[in-house]
Amino acid sequence: MTAIPTSNALLTAENLTKTVQVGEQSLSIIKDVSIHVDAGEFVVIMGKSGSGKSTLLGLLAALDYPDSGSVTLAGQTLSNLDEEALAVIRQQDMGFVFQSFHLLPTLTVAENIAFPLDIARRPDKTRVDTLIEAVGLGHRRHSLPNQLSGGEQQRTAVARALVSRPKIVFADEPTGNLDEQNAEQVMQLLLDLRQQTGSALVVVTHDPALAQMADRVITMQDGRVLSS
Ligand SMILES: Nc1ncnc2c1ncn2[C@@H]1O[C@H](COP(=O)(O)OP(=O)(O)O)[C@@H](O)[C@H]1O
Ligand SMILES: [Mg+2]
Repeated sequence: MTAIPTSNALLTAENLTKTVQVGEQSLSIIKDVSIHVDAGEFVVIMGKSGSGKSTLLGLLAALDYPDSGSVTLAGQTLSNLDEEALAVIRQQDMGFVFQSFHLLPTLTVAENIAFPLDIARRPDKTRVDTLIEAVGLGHRRHSLPNQLSGGEQQRTAVARALVSRPKIVFADEPTGNLDEQNAEQVMQLLLDLRQQTGSALVVVTHDPALAQMADRVITMQDGRVLSS
């Protein structure tokens, strides 16, 4: 079965499958998944633990290759590209927020936020300053990640994800390690910044309040998409 192409889709995944080897057993963890994300759209992926959400996000973000099927971003089929070409697309077109922050421990807040622009050789101090202020960390710009609270670390990660105005931002349980108040603040920042950049947003979450704010909710069960 082939997914019907959607005219204004930014990201299209068609018939993705992924199998992992566990001992002698081959385990099918993504089973014929086809989805699309439109430009600027906010999509939430929900589902029980172990249903394949993180694996799917990794395939959509080309952090991992599918066994079969394809992912196309802005007309370019990612599954055909080598690691080097994918690295460039990740730098230019994608932003990432992970549950465990993934900040570079030896870089300051300002340097972490500037990192995607610096490795793309497009440094932009004004843009970095704007984002530091937007996430309320002006007073923390010279701090290292281990000097920050969890909420501050994730606000830094949110600023870093949006700094290069990516076409799409992927977030895997971005509020999973935060208390309710910090979780709400981080999500609000993510949504505000995304509004400014026009980036599409794909968020894996357990939070029903977040799902309520999404344009669309995709539910996964046992490696398949139940509804989208
Ligand atoms: N590299 C791997 N090796 C073995 N099993 C894996 C691997 N990656 C994921 N899995 C299994 O695949 C299923 C889906 O995992 P995951 O995508 O992390 O689910 P979720 O994010 O929804 O909790 C789980 O049963 C998990 O244990
Ligand atoms: Mg997961």
